[in-house]
Amino acid sequence: MPTSAQSIRDIVTQHPSSAEVFHRFDIDLCLQADLSLEGACQELQLSVDQLLEKLAESEAQERGGMALDPATLSLARLVQHIVRVHHHCVRQELPRLAEMASKVAAKRGERAPELAKVAELIEKLHGEMYAHIQKEEQVLFPFIAQMDQESIIAYPPAHACFRSVAHPIFMMEQEHESANRIVAELIRLTNHFEPPSWACATHTALFFGLRDFEADLRQHVHLENDVLFPRAIQLEAELATRN
Ligand SMILES: [Fe+2]
Ligand SMILES: [Fe+2]
Repeated sequence: MPTSAQSIRDIVTQHPSSAEVFHRFDIDLCLQADLSLEGACQELQLSVDQLLEKLAESEAQERGGMALDPATLSLARLVQHIVRVHHHCVRQELPRLAEMASKVAAKRGERAPELAKVAELIEKLHGEMYAHIQKEEQVLFPFIAQMDQESIIAYPPAHACFRSVAHPIFMMEQEHESANRIVAELIRLTNHFEPPSWACATHTALFFGLRDFEADLRQHVHLENDVLFPRAIQLEAELATRN
C-alpha cells in the first residue's frame, strides 16, 4: 500500500493504477514526481487521507486483474501505463525544458557557449519525441492492445497496415537510439546535469528538470524495448502458430 511519505514517482512505479488517481486530482506526474504524497497534497490543498483512500480503492479494483509489477501487466494495460505516465511526461516536460533552455542560453550564453547547443538539442529531442509518441499511440500501441485483447478471437486485426509487428517495433527502437544519442550529448554538455556554481535559479531548474526527464526516459525506453516489444513479438509468433 502507498504511504504519505513515499514520493509520487515511487508510488506510480510500484502501483501503476495510481497514475489515474493522480490525474484525477491534478497531481502532476513530472513536476511533482519528487514530492512526497503528503507534500503534493499540501501544495494542492488536498486531503492526504482522502487521496490514500482513493489509491487503496483503485488498487483493490485492480487486484486480481493486474499485478503491481509493470512487467507482469497485460500488454493492453502496459500500453495504457506507458501512455499515462511516460508519454504524459514527454508532453509535459519537453516544452517546459525547451523554453527554459532558450531563456538560459540567451542570458548565460556568453559565459557558457555550450548552452546554445543544449537548447538546440532539447528542441531536437522535443520534435523527435513528439513524432515518436504519436506514431506509438496512433499505430503501434492500438495494434498491440488489440492483438492482446482479441487474440483468442481473430488475428491479425483487420486494420493492420504492416505484415508483422516487428517492423514498426524496429523503427521505434531506432528512434529510441536516436533519443538516447541526444540525451548522451546533453549529459556530456551539462557535466551530468550538474549546474555550475554561478548558475541562476532557471539554469539550476533546467539541469534538475533534465536529470528527472532523463530518468523517466530511461524507464520509458526500458519498458518498451525490454518488456512491451519482446512480449508483443512473442504473442504474434504464438498467434501465428495457432492460426
Ligand atoms: Fe513510448
Ligand atoms: Fe518509444
